[in-house]
Amino acid sequence: MIRPLEITSLTKTFGPHVAVKDFSIKVPPGEFVSLLGHSGCGKSTVLSIVAGLQQATFGGVVIDGVEVDTPGLDRGVVFQSPSLLPWMTALDNVMLAACQAHPKQTPAGQKDLCLKYLGLVGVSEFAHQLPAELSQGTQQRIAIARALVLEPRFLLLDEPFGMLDSMTRFELQDLVLELWEKDRRTVMLVTHDIDEALYLSDRIVLMTDGPEARVGLDLAVTLPRPRDRSVANENPEYMRLRGEVIRFLEHHSKQFANERAA
Ligand SMILES: Nc1ncnc2c1ncn2[C@@H]1O[C@H](COP(=O)(O)OP(=O)(O)OP(=O)(O)O)[C@@H](O)[C@H]1O
Ligand SMILES: [Mg+2]
Repeated sequence: MIRPLEITSLTKTFGPHVAVKDFSIKVPPGEFVSLLGHSGCGKSTVLSIVAGLQQATFGGVVIDGVEVDTPGLDRGVVFQSPSLLPWMTALDNVMLAACQAHPKQTPAGQKDLCLKYLGLVGVSEFAHQLPAELSQGTQQRIAIARALVLEPRFLLLDEPFGMLDSMTRFELQDLVLELWEKDRRTVMLVTHDIDEALYLSDRIVLMTDGPEARVGLDLAVTLPRPRDRSVANENPEYMRLRGEVIRFLEHHSKQFANERAA
């Protein structure tokens, strides 16, 4: 049986600063979950602990009964910045990940896999170009291909569309959705964009403001799929969910400001 990814009582301190405290959620296989919250609340901290890039101070992350404490090939990560190696072509950047994840494949087999994923994200024609020659959106597509070539169970996305203009952002949101609908990998997306979270997710986990950030609201997004962003504002259920998220975020900003003033 495939078990959920479990984050249990996750606490992370940086010196005396308790950034996240007792954060717990279970993410069932195939779910698209977003972590949403104000800037600095601890979203990236949680995601990077799931990615194994940081260690929890207490509690932690369990996958298939095993605690996560290092990065693994079962988790593909995409950050806000594509962070491709600038001296390597798109294909070679993706090849680095393919060689790690599929060491038993022949070099030709690894290259085929890379070309398959570069094709899936729509950038085959740029395979032999250097990152600096490509737009930010194309670079981010390559970063997504680099994560996908691992054929990971989990896709961990930390504001992957944050640096893109709105049209490119929409295109890449649709790409991620299309890929998710094809293979139903578990996706965990960090964002502070309410509409993005509502458009993409099955569930939105809202974090309270730090210090001691935790789960403030766990909201099921029951909107039917496929979703249409162009008419979202006419959908009463969409507007209800949007209102609930905004009320939560506003309440927490005020609470935070009051605590600071006290
Ligand atoms: N390496 C670190 N050392 C000290 N403090 C840190 C470190 N990393 C994060 N923090 C602190 O932990 C808190 C949570 O940071 P984090 O980056 O996880 O927030 P975030 O929700 O991802 O913010 P943003 O939306 O701006 O990306 C912040 O107060 C931040 O200053
Ligand atoms: Mg962050």
